[in-house]
Amino acid sequence: MSNLKRNGSLRWTPSYLRRQGQMTPGQKRIYRDKWDDFGLEFRYGELIDPAVVFPGDGPLHLEIGFGMGENLIFQAKTHPEARILGIEVHKPGIGSALKKIEQEKLGNIRLMRGDARLILSDYLVEPTRFRQISVLFPDPWPDPESAHRRIVQDDLLALFEARLSPGGILHIATDVDVYRDHCLEIVSARKGWEKAGDYDGKRMRGPTRYELKGLEKDHTIHDMVFRWPG
Ligand SMILES: C[S@@+](CC[C@H](N)C(=O)[O-])C[C@H]1O[C@@H](n2cnc3c(N)ncnc32)[C@H](O)[C@@H]1O
Repeated sequence: MSNLKRNGSLRWTPSYLRRQGQMTPGQKRIYRDKWDDFGLEFRYGELIDPAVVFPGDGPLHLEIGFGMGENLIFQAKTHPEARILGIEVHKPGIGSALKKIEQEKLGNIRLMRGDARLILSDYLVEPTRFRQISVLFPDPWPDPESAHRRIVQDDLLALFEARLSPGGILHIATDVDVYRDHCLEIVSARKGWEKAGDYDGKRMRGPTRYELKGLEKDHTIHDMVFRWPG
């Protein structure tokens, strides 16, 4: 299916808030002017081949839910050899990321707009394998009744396993203790994942808006880095 429904039912419970504010006039302008340069559209029945849409043959990094794009920029600068793909649902964040990409004149980032689970499962050509996948400060859905809306779930890990190269790295950060516990439980329940103790998660990412929000509330930041042996 081209969309989030199968047999009339949603394939995934939305992990994001339905509304995330309006785009500012500046975000609208940059979106109109730059989306064609950095955005990848996906259509039912067509697969995206990063090898074609990205110049170079460097490793692929993926960031899911990049928000305003701070870490995309960090990744692109600290890994100039890498090809960075960012997926985000909300347009204001995409507009903001496009502005930063333009200001920093970065050529190694491409953006997709949509539910990352749909894109990973339906829209990437085989074999697309990422060296690194980052999920930074995902919407926490801290109440037990909304825990099913957390994006880190067994089925997302299954998608990651299919899309990581051997030895590929999964980096999750959160400022919410119950989300940290949730992730550790979900990851340890699947066979194969290893804690990548040789990686320092905090150094692997740039500071993001939601990290700063967490720090303002005196939350502890948890960076979890796992390796998929493949
Ligand atoms: C709490 S914000 C964190 C943003 C950013 N990573 C940061 O640290 O500032 C979570 C982001 O994930 C995005 N998101 C949530 N579920 C998503 C999904 N299934 N696919 C793509 N993006 C998603 C939301 O739109 C939101 O921008």
